[in-house]
Amino acid sequence: MTAYSSSFHAIEWRGESLHLLDQRVLPHTHQVLDYTTAAEVADAIREMVVRGAPAIGISAAYGYALDALAGRDLDQAYKVLAESRPTAVNLFWALERMAALGTGDPHALVAEARAIHEEDLQANLAMGQYGASLLGENCRIYTHCNTGALATGGHGTALGIIRTAMADGKLEQVYAGETRPWLQGARLTAWELMQDQIPVKLACDGAAAQLFRSGAVDWVIVGADRITANGDVANKIGTYSLAVLARHHGVKFMVAAPTTTFDLTLENGQAIPIEQRPGNEVTSLNGQPVAPEGCEAINPAFDMTPAELIDAIVTEKGYVLMPDRESIAALVNL
Ligand code: MRU
Repeated sequence: MTAYSSSFHAIEWRGESLHLLDQRVLPHTHQVLDYTTAAEVADAIREMVVRGAPAIGISAAYGYALDALAGRDLDQAYKVLAESRPTAVNLFWALERMAALGTGDPHALVAEARAIHEEDLQANLAMGQYGASLLGENCRIYTHCNTGALATGGHGTALGIIRTAMADGKLEQVYAGETRPWLQGARLTAWELMQDQIPVKLACDGAAAQLFRSGAVDWVIVGADRITANGDVANKIGTYSLAVLARHHGVKFMVAAPTTTFDLTLENGQAIPIEQRPGNEVTSLNGQPVAPEGCEAINPAFDMTPAELIDAIVTEKGYVLMPDRESIAALVNL
């Protein structure tokens, strides 16, 4: 097991409760909230206290264990957690793994949740090595949303590759897209990278095309919420536009995700459920209206990037270039 240290914990199990760093108020407010039931954890996931596919799965596992500790109905715990957010498959994977233990023994279930948490961290450290090995010297990377220690068990997926590339002396510059409407890039990714002294420049989402055309970016690296059997990828809204732009400008496009993010039961990305969130997340910013009163908005939280636009998918087991059904199956089943 590789040692790891971080100045904060997004998810922390403390005795008999779950502590989550409230990601809605970062970076200016550091607030830790305490949870003791699965229903409360489901609300925290839905309301974005904790977000990011692996972090959602880990939190759900602890939420399930919380109801076991209190002797509550575990079928109901499963149901309430499964209804929190629909797109990230890590949520359903983690709940299945907890339920598959076939026990209500709280000690066994807490131990399983802890194992899911630790395994995700170790997967990210391995993914960091595989992903960084694909990068050239003085690499300039554009990333989207937040895929760091906040979104995972630690280190991060796309951000883990960026951290490893920095440690390997290969990184020249990171551009973080701000990621409207929740601003995960501005509030979370810029914060994480600045704490690690990793050179980051924040860009508004609309700046990507101009940056790519000017030759300022070598690789786009993003995470994933669900990857289907053919290599299609659901990720934060705006990812698909970045992939189209990258291909047009000859910029390479990499997706980083643990194998817990793969859903081989789905043939392709058309079948991925895309979460639709409330319109007021678009019409307001920090509770302040930015659109006329009564303005309607659409707010899909994710989009789907087809496999043909992806140059590399990196996991803890290795990577595939130009992913397709055969190479994905071979990698995930390794
Ligand atoms: O809505 P969010 O913030 O949960 O969306 C997160 C993303 O889309 C991430 O890119 C993805 O979960 C990968 S996180 C390692």
